[in-house]
Amino acid sequence: LREHEEFTKVKNIATIELGRYEIETWYFSPFPPEYNDSLKLYFCEFCLNFMKRKEQLQRHMRKCDLKHPPGDEIYRSGTLSMFEVDGKKNKVYGQNLCYLAKLFLDHKTLYYDVDLFLFYVLCECDERGCHMVGYFSKEKHSEESYNLACILTLPPYQRKGYGKFLIAFSYELSKKEGKVGTPERPLSDLGLLSYRGYWTRVLLDILKKHKSNISIKELSDMTAIKADDILTTLQGLELIQYRKGQHAICADPKVLDRHLKAAGRGGLEVDVSKLIWTPYK
Ligand code: ACO
Ligand code: ZN
Repeated sequence: LREHEEFTKVKNIATIELGRYEIETWYFSPFPPEYNDSLKLYFCEFCLNFMKRKEQLQRHMRKCDLKHPPGDEIYRSGTLSMFEVDGKKNKVYGQNLCYLAKLFLDHKTLYYDVDLFLFYVLCECDERGCHMVGYFSKEKHSEESYNLACILTLPPYQRKGYGKFLIAFSYELSKKEGKVGTPERPLSDLGLLSYRGYWTRVLLDILKKHKSNISIKELSDMTAIKADDILTTLQGLELIQYRKGQHAICADPKVLDRHLKAAGRGGLEVDVSKLIWTPYK
């Protein structure tokens, strides 16, 4: 039995077809057993149903009438749109998205009850439809103040700033809720790099503008970033001094400039005026 378990954990699906991309997978994903003898799966890029044969997908595409993720379009700016999908109202879509995402996420367990999650799906839209770029999931109610459970940019779209866009978006939702948030742990290496980059850029920009003293609490109120994450970020940048039993930010302009230069591109901006959303109740 042990051997069998180990065996079934080995990466099964080697490639997927999704829209105009053929994508090599990274990790094991627990597709239903009847798919486990396939090296390649064919996804409908809109409803995310998956099939073992190209002809099945072609037949499906003739009758599938979705041209974007199910759910509400809550953001549109230029060709970028964000859709909010309720896992309870769109269970199959939520499950399909989880199967797909697990192919690129290592340590995340996937046996979530999709009912408990909202999925925020980022798309690039053109005359053929809205093509999924990436997504993040979010618990409807989080005890631990998580504002993001899993985040993924599909490999053909990685390293173009979409990850930082998704992260920024998750904090914009937290701001609208009037809450601070933090991503669910553990973070992957790429997840940590992306978050650290986002936190660094946001905090440095504020410190640069507010030459006067500012506290971690105030930074947290302005950004919806959890105080712990602010502290570790600023400690990493050596901008924290510990004085009289208290952490104090010491933002020497020269040091700030040096860090800002090293911080790289800001990623794609979220235009908050284009976000039409009310918190889940
Ligand atoms: N090598 C080095 N640094 C990288 C790389 C890479 N391959 N990819 C991203 N980064 C870093 C860079 O610092 C980059 O900023 P820069 O380009 O300004 O230097 C920063 O991450 C963000 O880059 P983006 O282009 O905004 O992010 P991207 O769209 O590539 O998405 C993500 C990042 C979502 C983490 C993506 O790599 C991914 O989907 N990975 C697989 C799934 C995963 O690991 N998700 C996170 C799990 S943790 C969690 O879900 C809570
Ligand atoms: Zn479909």
